[in-house]
Amino acid sequence: MITPVAFNRTLEGKSNAHLIRFSDGRDYVVKFFQTGFEKTLANEWVAYCLARYLGLPVPYARLVEIPQEFSTHVPELAQMNVTQFQFASIYVPECLDGHQVPTIGSITNHEILAAIIVFDYWLSNRDRTRKNILLHEEEPDHYHLWMIDQAEIFGSYNWNLTEIENLPTEIMKSATHQIMASFIEEEQEFFEQIELIQTLPIHLIEEVVALIPEDWEVTREERKAMVSTLVTRRKKVLPEIMHLFIRKIYRPLQVKEN
Ligand SMILES: Nc1ncnc2c1ncn2[C@@H]1O[C@H](COP(=O)(O)OP(=O)(O)O)[C@@H](O)[C@H]1O
Ligand SMILES: [Mg+2]
Repeated sequence: MITPVAFNRTLEGKSNAHLIRFSDGRDYVVKFFQTGFEKTLANEWVAYCLARYLGLPVPYARLVEIPQEFSTHVPELAQMNVTQFQFASIYVPECLDGHQVPTIGSITNHEILAAIIVFDYWLSNRDRTRKNILLHEEEPDHYHLWMIDQAEIFGSYNWNLTEIENLPTEIMKSATHQIMASFIEEEQEFFEQIELIQTLPIHLIEEVVALIPEDWEVTREERKAMVSTLVTRRKKVLPEIMHLFIRKIYRPLQVKEN
């Protein structure tokens, strides 16, 4: 397992994510378990594994351990809760967020944009803000899009059983989804993604949830609820919401452009 070698800085945002260099020579954004934000790490883990399986553009991530000998020498880390594992994703350098690029010429990986929106609705990610996409300029005005920050899937970073079992079934207000939707070429892309999600093996979902570290305090009932929410939502709710999204958001954007 890689070990931390140098603390860089704390990143802006409610997660108190920290930028840390590891023994593999790479910089990782590390999120720690925080009281009040108890589901952050489990949400990130589950969303990351599923996104990666589906081929979505999430920065490579892994579980890491931060030994106490390291954190006690870093004032920013000294007050963090020490669980055995933390969630770490590779820092993608030289990116701008959605606020910093007011007009995007084109998105080079536009063929996965519908997949990201479908994914956010499947997982009920209410936090796809402009800060939670990263844009890397590959050529002037042409950007590769990364998705980051899946801490608020299942509606919240501290959901409880009642909440996860009653997730919203309406379209969410997201300027970022609108921006992404304006670059989607074919309606068909939404339906292909729904089908892919519907045929994902249940065993894979169960395995991902089972691998959530014990000390992140997700109970057996909550793990079961995560699996059953994912399996239930993909059947009926997801296609219904996506039809609404296409009618209310995607199609009007197409009309505007033509
Ligand atoms: N993999 C990454 N590469 C580059 N920057 C990142 C990455 N992950 C997070 N950041 C930066 O750190 C900020 C906080 O991380 P984020 O995951 O959005 O947590 P939160 O918003 O919950 O605090 C982001 O807005 C972004 O600026
Ligand atoms: Mg964020």
